[in-house]
Amino acid sequence: MLNIAVLVSGGGTNLQALIDAQATGQIQNGAISLVISSRTDAFALERAKKAGIPTRVLLRKGFAEQADYDAALLALLKEFQIQLVVLAGFMTIISETVIRQYENQIINVHPALIPSFCGPGFYGLHVHEAALEKGVKVSGATVHFVNEVCDGGPIILQKAVEVLPDDTPETLQRRIMEQAEWKLLPRAVELFCAGKIVVENGRTRILD
Ligand code: GAR
Repeated sequence: MLNIAVLVSGGGTNLQALIDAQATGQIQNGAISLVISSRTDAFALERAKKAGIPTRVLLRKGFAEQADYDAALLALLKEFQIQLVVLAGFMTIISETVIRQYENQIINVHPALIPSFCGPGFYGLHVHEAALEKGVKVSGATVHFVNEVCDGGPIILQKAVEVLPDDTPETLQRRIMEQAEWKLLPRAVELFCAGKIVVENGRTRILD
């Protein structure tokens, strides 16, 4: 059984999708053992508590140096013997120090079809604002491994979602969550825990 940590900053709907996938048995060989929030007021913390999952709050501004924050994060992951880290709307950048320790063991969900609308500054509603500004007719979501390039790691799963003429950033965000993120993220975790994701030359191959 793999111990999974889910890192959150906000509403935690993606965390909820993972909790539900665990409850229905979709995720075999893995258990959400820890939820870490970058904010004290994240609603995601309530979701974790309701599901009986241990929670911790780790504030970047609580540490003067990046190295001290990294050490605190790594210590928590070690304490809970974490083998998979899931970034589910986590808004603090993970440093190379942490990424190196968990190579191809950190996955992130991004609310666009990478390599569109990704990289520094593209998070949350900003992503959907940029997609609407450009006038794309489809957007979607991507689940990928985290490497040292922001939103640049090997892509695991993607799903396209239609953009409608009257969309606002909020309506587009919601449709992408419902039709893509909440399905892709549990599926990626399921595949990871089943040992079915192979990384070769910066790309993934899903075993069947
Ligand atoms: C999700 O849409 C997720 O894809 C996005 O933040 C939202 C979190 O919602 N993540 C990023 O933008 C990362 N670059 P949630 O807290 O309800 O899961």
